[in-house]
Amino acid sequence: MRKKVTKAIFPVAGLGTRFLPATKSVPKEIMTLVDRPLVQYAIDEARAAGIKEFIFVTSRGKSALEDYFDHNPILEQELRKKGKDDLLETLKSTNMESGAIAYIRQHRALGLGHAVWCARRLIGNEPFAVMLPDDVIAAEKPCLQQMVEAYEETGGNMVAAMEVPPEKASSYGVLDVAEDMGAVVNARGMVEKPVPGSEPSNLAVIGRYILEPSVLRNLNKMKQGAGGEIQLTDAIAEDINAGKPVYGYRFRGQRFDCGSKSGFLQATVAFALARDELRGDLSRYLTETIHASQAAE
Ligand code: UTP
Repeated sequence: MRKKVTKAIFPVAGLGTRFLPATKSVPKEIMTLVDRPLVQYAIDEARAAGIKEFIFVTSRGKSALEDYFDHNPILEQELRKKGKDDLLETLKSTNMESGAIAYIRQHRALGLGHAVWCARRLIGNEPFAVMLPDDVIAAEKPCLQQMVEAYEETGGNMVAAMEVPPEKASSYGVLDVAEDMGAVVNARGMVEKPVPGSEPSNLAVIGRYILEPSVLRNLNKMKQGAGGEIQLTDAIAEDINAGKPVYGYRFRGQRFDCGSKSGFLQATVAFALARDELRGDLSRYLTETIHASQAAE
């Protein structure tokens, strides 16, 4: 019997420099799409996939993130008193069970692989998920749930994969595909940020992973990779070299890169248009603004 994936690591210790000056005091993961912080989308997706333990790798300046997960009994009482039942329900749906969240510090931003390695003692010898909250995925069935279902069939390591235009591939980890089985591909290699023109395919890895504990052992070696950082991609690729399977999973859904300003703005518009109470006003505003700017050209 395959072990169930019940633990997820959320590496949130990065500097978030693309959002300065906001990220001087606000963790990137607390920035909101409409009215929910990025991290809430990730938590909801993890819960839907059966995750029970949520491990955050944090750093200096991220205390707002820890506070966000505390219950707020005073606010709950006020909403109850005022009969604001809908808001009370919304608030309560974000409450986490005591002991379900753990925080580990990454003392220096040495890279995503290093951040994941920092959580090794909380993982032990079982498969685990890694979720990057700045990749937000709008999907009918949450992305990690799709992956867990596929993983139950395949085992091994599994990374979420997405087709990207060739000129964008050098910003991602890219899969070298040995066998394409449709939703699932079998990888014979993985390259982090390939030199333009050398990318082995157009299948890029995005921020959802299901990994075997062997990847944590590979990270023990602390080899620096692309950009001088300790790369998670390299530790996963090492498993391929050791003869262990690595699968790419083409998820169904739309991924927004909320670590970039443009992706964050697109996600804001998409998630607002998905809300009944906002759609009318916003789409009118967008249509008028686009017409006005086209007329001015
Ligand atoms: P990014 O590459 O987006 O870096 O990290 P960043 O620091 O968050 O943002 P920019 O590029 O400076 O704007 C991808 C994910 O890996 C985490 C980040 O928090 C983010 O979730 N990360 C990255 C760490 O936890 N530690 C690191 O050392 C590096």
